[in-house]
Amino acid sequence: MIYIKSKREIDYIRESCKIVAETLQLLKKYVKPGITTGELDKIANDYILSNNGKSAFKDYSQGGAVKYPGYICTSVDDEVVHGIPGNRVLREGEIISLDCGVVKNNYFGDAAITVAVGEISEEKKKLMDVTEKSLYIGLEQAKVNNRLYDISHAIQEYVEENGFSIVRDLCGHGVGRHLHEDPSIPNFGRKGTGAILKKGMTLAIEPMVNMGRYDVRVDSDEWTILTIDGLPSAHFEHTIAIDNDKPEILTIC
Ligand code: MF3
Ligand code: CO
Repeated sequence: MIYIKSKREIDYIRESCKIVAETLQLLKKYVKPGITTGELDKIANDYILSNNGKSAFKDYSQGGAVKYPGYICTSVDDEVVHGIPGNRVLREGEIISLDCGVVKNNYFGDAAITVAVGEISEEKKKLMDVTEKSLYIGLEQAKVNNRLYDISHAIQEYVEENGFSIVRDLCGHGVGRHLHEDPSIPNFGRKGTGAILKKGMTLAIEPMVNMGRYDVRVDSDEWTILTIDGLPSAHFEHTIAIDNDKPEILTIC
């Protein structure tokens, strides 16, 4: 069931989303060769706590499995999403997806950005640009009376036109009263199909784009998602609220 949020609920979600956006902007400044993903995790958690929020990811479990051990997700190069922060040292030329979820007043926000570590290759720049642009192209379809998979289709078309592939096994999602709610939002699909979008739906749209094949696998840590071919992957995500002509992007500061 897709929950429609009241204006008051969206105010709470906006508050959590603001902390998410500010955390990501803060982390971006720290992404440099030499820093560890664990240090980024601590910086994020300190900032979230100082704003009276809590990480929505820490100890999250997908049905009885291993609890997620980090406060944020840090996914480097061929790590698509759900990379666990630790003693990995960032090196020049890598790209890192920073994914942050916050809960405050029992309402959730979720967003991600991919950031370059120092100078990166032209290919990786294009991968990041296409991924971010695909998110905004998807968001253009996110309005009242459009269909859910209008968003999915727009993302897929733009990514594939640009020679990259869309991960099939992971999706965006409803967000707000929980971190993950209905609907599941694939980043590929058929225009004109899927749920009708209604004012007050709050959604996390998150294209994951691979430079090579779209296939992924789960690492032995049971969380990190990796590309099968070892080629890099990028990820951008916003939490939005559906409205008449265009969505309100909540994870912006
Ligand atoms: N943004 C990701 C998602 O929506 C992050 C989840 S990490 C988890 O799925 F640990 F909370 F699962
Ligand atoms: Co998400």
